[in-house]
Amino acid sequence: MNILILGASGAIGFALLQQTFKQFPDAKIWGTYHRSQPESATLDPESRVTWVKLDLTDERQIERLSSNIENLDWLINCVGILHNEQVKPEKSIGSFDGDFFMQNIQINTLPTLLLAKHFTPALKKSTHPRFAVISARVGSIEDNRLGGWYSYRSSKAALNMALKTLSIEWGRTVQSGVVLALHPGTTDSELSKPFQANVPQGKLFRPEKVACDIIHILQCHRPEASGQFIAYDGTIVPW
Ligand SMILES: NC(=O)c1ccc[n+]([C@@H]2O[C@H](COP(=O)([O-])OP(=O)(O)OC[C@H]3O[C@@H](n4cnc5c(N)ncnc54)[C@H](OP(=O)(O)O)[C@@H]3O)[C@@H](O)[C@H]2O)c1
Repeated sequence: MNILILGASGAIGFALLQQTFKQFPDAKIWGTYHRSQPESATLDPESRVTWVKLDLTDERQIERLSSNIENLDWLINCVGILHNEQVKPEKSIGSFDGDFFMQNIQINTLPTLLLAKHFTPALKKSTHPRFAVISARVGSIEDNRLGGWYSYRSSKAALNMALKTLSIEWGRTVQSGVVLALHPGTTDSELSKPFQANVPQGKLFRPEKVACDIIHILQCHRPEASGQFIAYDGTIVPW
């Protein structure tokens, strides 16, 4: 089994890398990082893990990586931003910032389309290909009751549309293919840190738990479920 985890330097991505390493002893795993490669002393020295430095907003870098991976079974994109050093998600439209909006689209939406473009040929060779992306429930239009977070919500809603559209194309062209948008639940990470204070008790998940949930979902869901938006507990999130 060949597995590619994008954003394996983040909390959810790194936990997924460790869990797939543990649960699939024969798997070859590629993990990407953007700024610095995580310490991974717990992974075996013979390493079945290949680390790659990758800026996912750069199509040439994605294309180069795809030319080095001929066969792929699972692709899981865990890259995303919610805030940066200067800008927090908008509480109201008055604080909307065009550059921040474009950065959200560039990191939360664009890479998935580029990954689909360049990795579909390698995934097509698998007997059970999975293309999964960590979206977020706040990207659901139907579920939006609180408002705010214009840039993040919009970028995840656009991501969801891209995934639904890909699932329709894959339904015609990739045998046994499964495309999924996933909601991990609020997970302890740098991304969620500034917003953890109001999370109800027991609802701030450890990345290790979320990684196990995601692997379970990828193992269980068959092609009939392709094109769905699924939460960590297996429930369907409305678009
Ligand atoms: N945590 C939550 O509560 C929560 C809830 C719902 C959805 N999500 C979604 O889950 C995903 C993972 O989030 P997380 O909580 O694990 O966040 P995180 O720990 O902050 O990880 C974010 C990842 O994105 C990578 N990244 C950022 N910009 C990049 C770029 N231009 N090119 C390549 N990689 C880039 C980071 O790489 P470097 O660190 O190497 O820069 C890091 O690996 C995100 O899509 C997020 O929206 C999270």
